[in-house]
Amino acid sequence: MSLGPCEIFEVGPRDGLQNEAELISTADKIALVDDLSRAGFRRIEVASFVSPKLMPQMAGSGDVLAGISRAPGVRYAALTPNMRGYADARAAGADEVAVFASASEGFSKANINASIEESFERFAPILEEARHIDLPVRGYVSCTIACPFDGLVDPAKVAAVADRLFAMGCYEISLGDTTGAGTPDSIARMLLAVRDVVPVGRLAGHYHDTGGKALANIDASLSLGVRVFDAAVGGLGGCPFAPGAAGNVATEQVAAHLAGLGYDTGLDLNVIETAATRALAMRTETAPAE
Ligand code: HMG
Ligand code: MG
Repeated sequence: MSLGPCEIFEVGPRDGLQNEAELISTADKIALVDDLSRAGFRRIEVASFVSPKLMPQMAGSGDVLAGISRAPGVRYAALTPNMRGYADARAAGADEVAVFASASEGFSKANINASIEESFERFAPILEEARHIDLPVRGYVSCTIACPFDGLVDPAKVAAVADRLFAMGCYEISLGDTTGAGTPDSIARMLLAVRDVVPVGRLAGHYHDTGGKALANIDASLSLGVRVFDAAVGGLGGCPFAPGAAGNVATEQVAAHLAGLGYDTGLDLNVIETAATRALAMRTETAPAE
């Protein structure tokens, strides 16, 4: 019996690759995105328009967007921390953009060199411009469970940031367990607080798998009504500004897990395996010697 639709938002080409130490070629990134486009995703995050000094792996994001074979019905997304990033993402033809806030001051400063308040001042004109052209803007909240600098994060703080992003026009709020510290209990406490201020149908779970609990955290989220989960093929990823954080939950594991539970993801698991093999090979080829 089908339990209904459940979507995986593929973030591998962005969150998965951004943390790789050795530069991956634009051609390899394009090949990965093209694999993913064949797998049935409706949204794929492929680019990030941030400082190339701080995030060299994402420096060729415009070339990636220019080189991919766009599949009909797929939206290709990009991170945009400020108006400059937004302008670059628009020029490169991103179909949607994402602003990324933090529920903790320590990570906000480390990640985007701004307080939470300052980050909202940067996001406001992006939302304003995007509204004029009906461009979808997604909103991330990082450190929804714990912050590598400030420790445990109060669910009320997460709810406040999520509420603000939603009120300013983000169509969906992706809740990041950036360090992978979450457990089913702490994820549920956080979601219950956020669900009070943002409709659950507009929430997504973005769980890094440092603690090996991401699938259990997805189960806890499903039971509270969340039906969108971010994942990265091959389980690659992490954020260089979140020390100790490991990869995103692996798309192939989430897709198989959701299918096993009876959810309809619309994804071709064989194509996802091909993409995961490619993503992992890219890492193996470029990983620094032990
Ligand atoms: P800043 O220092 O406040 O900004 O950085 P600035 O305006 O003073 O500029 C500093 C330098 O960045 C200048 O260059 C600018 O030109 C350049 P310089 O003079 O030093 O050569 N710059 C830009 N370059 C390209 N594109 C731009 C741009 N803006 C400024 N859009 C800034 C602010 C956000 C730019 C910086 O802190 C930054 O790039 N940070 C990187 C953040 C990042 O990529 N983090 C990883 C993604 S977030 C994540 O992984 C979490 C998530 O997955 C959810 C989760 O897991 O929790 C989403
Ligand atoms: Mg992430």
